[in-house]
Amino acid sequence: MADQDAQTPVGIEPPALSVLRWDEPPEGPSVVLLDQTRLPAEEAELVCADVPALVRAIRTLAVRGAPLLGIAGGYGVALAAARGEDVAQAAVRLEGARPTAVNLGYGARRVARAHRAAVESGTGPEAAAAVALAEARALHQEDAAASGRMAQYGLDLLAELLPEGGGHRLLTHCNTGALVSGGEGTAFAVALKAHREGSLRHLWVDETRPLLQGARLTAYEAGRNGMPYSLLADSAAGSLFAAGEVDAVLIGADRIAADGSVANKVGSYPLAVLAKYHHVPFVVVAPTTTVDLESVDAASIVVEQRAAAEVTEFTSVVGAPSGGGAGGTAVAPLGTQAYNPAFDITPPELVTAIVTEEGVISPVTGVGLAELCARSSQV
Ligand code: MRU
Repeated sequence: MADQDAQTPVGIEPPALSVLRWDEPPEGPSVVLLDQTRLPAEEAELVCADVPALVRAIRTLAVRGAPLLGIAGGYGVALAAARGEDVAQAAVRLEGARPTAVNLGYGARRVARAHRAAVESGTGPEAAAAVALAEARALHQEDAAASGRMAQYGLDLLAELLPEGGGHRLLTHCNTGALVSGGEGTAFAVALKAHREGSLRHLWVDETRPLLQGARLTAYEAGRNGMPYSLLADSAAGSLFAAGEVDAVLIGADRIAADGSVANKVGSYPLAVLAKYHHVPFVVVAPTTTVDLESVDAASIVVEQRAAAEVTEFTSVVGAPSGGGAGGTAVAPLGTQAYNPAFDITPPELVTAIVTEEGVISPVTGVGLAELCARSSQV
């Protein structure tokens, strides 16, 4: 059933998405975002002219996804520097906007460090701000390059893991494409490369309750790239596995602990359990900037808890002007409490492989991860 609905021919590529850019109009610098709360209905820009506006955009998921949060954190610090504000304080505020994706703090701290080093070496405020901006741009470009390398490693891995013939039927969760990256993303970039090279038979897209990153964003990206895809309710994944329709699961990550535990969008862990039961590879694709060797294991990862309204209402994000979390239609009795973690944690023994820009580890071990990270800091 999966191979009947290819959409547009392979080889026609849409224009690149402008997901996040630095702008310097006469009225002052800003970070300009593609407002992801308005997709897919509208491709609207959101201009963040100061750090509080960017923090708001991060909290409401106008900008989201681990690698892009790192890039946003970096430009946010550059923005504070350009405005002559307290850069260290801006970095702390940005890092605190969301707790789980480690890239956010990585980006903010990295740019703040570059700025501080410039100031300490006697560089004046304007030149130090230029150093901060250059560092944010470098981070942005590195992420784009990492994305291309992960796509290649991921595709090579699929060729090793899966039998030849017929093409891959891949299941993905949340959104991991160009909307979360300086390049074409993490897990989604692997599926996209497979599509371009003719080896994607079908992409199964989990809708990703409660904020529907799969339905709103991954389906949007798959459609604009002409990929053959279908959307499913998260709870339909089990019967899809049982029907033998999934060859591999590909997901991204928000933080990978030193032992290989993977924090990713809530709903990832149940997929890993299903994949194990059905002997299907469960592959995590993430840059080494998502590995946090200071988080020893699952217990050291803070999982963001979000508002009950995201579960008790339909739906707080779609079309809400960068204000996800407000103004939905109630679907539960007034006053209903909710359990709404944004992420869950998959233990390393359920992960077949982790694909990074530095290579692949399989099986997933702490030693293997540490080696990959050492390689990346040597470059
Ligand atoms: O809450 P979000 O939308 O920021 O969550 C995003 C995810 O969980 C992604 O899967 C993760 O950041 C990996 S993206 C490369």
